[in-house]
Amino acid sequence: MHILFIGDMVGKGSRKAAREIVPQLRQEYGCSLVIANGENMAGGGGMTAKCLRGLAEARIDVFTGGDHMWDQRSLVEEIADFPNVLRPANVCPQQPGRGTGVFETLDHGNVGVICLQGRTFMNSSADCPFAAADRCVEELQAQTSVIIVDMHAEATSEKIAMGRYLDGRVTAVLGTHTHVATADEQILPAGTAYQTDVGMVGARESVLGRDIEPVLQKFSTGMPARFTVVEKGIRLHATLIHVDPQTGKALDITRIWRDFD
Ligand SMILES: [Fe+2]
Ligand SMILES: [Fe+2]
Repeated sequence: MHILFIGDMVGKGSRKAAREIVPQLRQEYGCSLVIANGENMAGGGGMTAKCLRGLAEARIDVFTGGDHMWDQRSLVEEIADFPNVLRPANVCPQQPGRGTGVFETLDHGNVGVICLQGRTFMNSSADCPFAAADRCVEELQAQTSVIIVDMHAEATSEKIAMGRYLDGRVTAVLGTHTHVATADEQILPAGTAYQTDVGMVGARESVLGRDIEPVLQKFSTGMPARFTVVEKGIRLHATLIHVDPQTGKALDITRIWRDFD
């Protein structure tokens, strides 16, 4: 079974690119499930019902979130209509939505997905992601042996630690949040696929998907600047996991990317 995981989607350009490219990738690799981190899809921060509905033709099955989860206030109400949108699991339980889900594939049974948020070097009120991972994995293992974890975090060390912590207990631990794809994709010793960051769906000519000039201004002068999203010249970064659906072990992990417009 093949599962495709797409990195942080940034803005309108990423939604346009996803509509065009994801169905092609789905067919090309025979994907049973497609997951995308959607935390920046709406104008660079958050998700909305309108954006999610507009992505129907991209055929993305599950959207994970992160620290920008609630940037669009409307999602607080709207998330109830989207059982395929996951917020980080390790937050105050009073937050709307849920942090794990089990999703049915047409050909290979159920896949569990867990969204976690890191705490190191992040403006994060999240609880311990490791304790949450234990709880979530135990809950999902009762329903499926195939479990994909989105570890949305800043520090490479925290993400690598999560990969090692869950090695052999889940199918894949894939990092998101930094928007920069890392070249460390690997199968860990006990059979978990791992990559520190999948990358983003965002502009090649940008700083993490934002216009270069205001970011340079802010860094070089220390003065506040408005970071607009670049909507053109998009590169879609994703990672493909080949899974043994019986054991839930990863057989292979491959980084892929496609350019759009
Ligand atoms: Fe992001
Ligand atoms: Fe993030």
